[in-house]
Amino acid sequence: MNTATASEIERLGIPAAALPHHVAIIMDGNGRWAASRNLDRSEGHKAGARRTPPIVESASRLGIEAMTLYSFSTENWARAEAEVGVLMNLYTEYLVSQRPLLTDNNVRFRHLGQRDGLPARVLDELDRNVELTADNTGLTLHLALNYGSRAEITAAVRSIAADAASGELTTAEVDEALISSRLGTAGSPDPDLLIRTSGEMRISNYLLWQISYAELYVTDTYWPDFTPEHFHEALRDFAGRQRRFGREQSE
Ligand code: IPE
Ligand code: IPE
Ligand code: MG
Repeated sequence: MNTATASEIERLGIPAAALPHHVAIIMDGNGRWAASRNLDRSEGHKAGARRTPPIVESASRLGIEAMTLYSFSTENWARAEAEVGVLMNLYTEYLVSQRPLLTDNNVRFRHLGQRDGLPARVLDELDRNVELTADNTGLTLHLALNYGSRAEITAAVRSIAADAASGELTTAEVDEALISSRLGTAGSPDPDLLIRTSGEMRISNYLLWQISYAELYVTDTYWPDFTPEHFHEALRDFAGRQRRFGREQSE
């Protein structure tokens, strides 16, 4: 652990061993944040986008291995065309403006989700970030954009079935590790902490396979109000959890 990470962890006040390895976040509540201020939903999305870099930076400084951010689901295409347009423009803009954050913090950027359906300008900036950060060795940041967990699992099953049909795999070789290795998060540990902002008690088609033993943390705070202090509060809460993985409760 480098000294910057050590002092950051010390400031947080929890032992490094009690930090999660992979934090997944459902960044929800932009619309309600805007409505509570009589603003257009697009203002909520803009305010929300500004909240992401400080959280990524904090995770990176703490030496957390992976972070996955839900920014657009496959179901979000059902929204009004104008709102989807605003969001696609925002992603394009932020994928560019966040580049220094990624390079300065040694973050490895990855896109999680389907390429099909995303505008070319978004795909170009996603690819650029992936390429630019491919050799970075710090935090792995998965940006879930046009992501749906069932679609991800379906694609994994399809690729395994194709390999089985061509004789490259036997059915006995299909195990949990193989399935994990065919998902977009391959190479990262499963999330051990899932944070959802703005109070909804649901998963919304997010990382269904990967979160099988994640600790859940739901806060009423809307995403555009979520600061590194709120993030640290979630980490402290996580550090106090007793994780059992099916075992009996210890004293
Ligand atoms: C999350 O905020 C951003 C996206 C889903 C793109 P919402 O837009 O869902 O905000 P609420 O849930 O309507 O408040
Ligand atoms: C989940 O939020 C997706 C993202 C945060 C990108 P939604 O607002 O789309 O989820 P539901 O519709 O409330 O389940
Ligand atoms: Mg929402």
